[in-house]
Amino acid sequence: METGISDSKILQFLSGKGPDEELFAEADRIRRENYGDAVYLRGLIEFTNYCKNNCYYCGIRAGNTRLDRYRLDQETILECCRTGYALGFRTFVLQGGEDPFFTDDRLCGIVSEIHGRYPDCAITLSVGERSRESYQRLFNAGARRYLLRHEAASADLYRTLHPAEMILANRKRCLYDLKEIGYQVGAGLMVGAPGQTLEHLIEDLHFLQRLQPDMIGIGPYLRHADTPLGRSSASCAQGLEKSQKLQLTLRLLAVLRIMFPYALIPATTALGTIEHNGRELGLKAGANVVMPNLSPVDVREQYELYDNKICTGEESAQCRSCLELRVMSAGYRIVTDIGDVKCH
Ligand code: 5AD
Ligand code: FES
Repeated sequence: METGISDSKILQFLSGKGPDEELFAEADRIRRENYGDAVYLRGLIEFTNYCKNNCYYCGIRAGNTRLDRYRLDQETILECCRTGYALGFRTFVLQGGEDPFFTDDRLCGIVSEIHGRYPDCAITLSVGERSRESYQRLFNAGARRYLLRHEAASADLYRTLHPAEMILANRKRCLYDLKEIGYQVGAGLMVGAPGQTLEHLIEDLHFLQRLQPDMIGIGPYLRHADTPLGRSSASCAQGLEKSQKLQLTLRLLAVLRIMFPYALIPATTALGTIEHNGRELGLKAGANVVMPNLSPVDVREQYELYDNKICTGEESAQCRSCLELRVMSAGYRIVTDIGDVKCH
């Protein structure tokens, strides 16, 4: 690998023979060298929990009939942006399930409206697999960043986490299309997913090296009771133990920072869910983005990808100030500028 860190060294770090202190110190050194103590703020708007897919791990999968479904209308989405702008957000992340209601026309309408009202803000989309033409139209409407976790670079592992109609090659095609169109692209995965080994993570790292994404999102896999993996009583279907998942996520964050010095890497909500100070630990391990929730409080519980997701009762302003304090306590500083990736 051209990063100067070999696969065997990575395996040593990931398996905890690090030592961890050395790994986290090196990640923090590299992050400070490139980004100082800055932590970028992204406002997350979860605008639909309808999804046509049936990923075996995800709480908003189509097959979960125990969930009340919602879609935010354009006015409500714009209201979230208005609140967010006043709180200092300069990036809005529109995230949703793969909801056929949001045709290109509808979604482009929303994107161009936000773009027109907030020309100084970046619009990030996270709405799954679409056609190249669709991605191009959304780009033309003003979207500039796109988050699409690849979930697993290994075809075998991908197959055990998704039904047959979901094809890894198509997901990878989407990521390369997005890059070619000119989006800043985010990929990523869940750590400690059922069946995932350290060798799978090495495959993920190799894939990320080829893709060279601008953003990399990782968080621990957490079970959701109303999913096939969450229902399974087989212990192998539950992935790693909680403390192992936390530790492995932190180690992988640090390895990512070392391998991708310029990447924008969030300390995710899943990390804050598995451990009360998980996001602070993530920042210290190399993460440099936080994504407080800007969704209306009355729909937040319905966007439960996994059990016990945090922040479902907090107003946007509360999440914003909560994270300000958390970032400060970890020794960093929130910056509210648009926060584009530095040049590779
Ligand atoms: N645990 C952790 N992360 C999950 N995601 C979906 N379901 C779960 C879960 N049970 C992640 C996926 C998806 C992102 C939006 O949330 O990686 O890409
Ligand atoms: Fe939402 Fe802490 S980030 S309450």
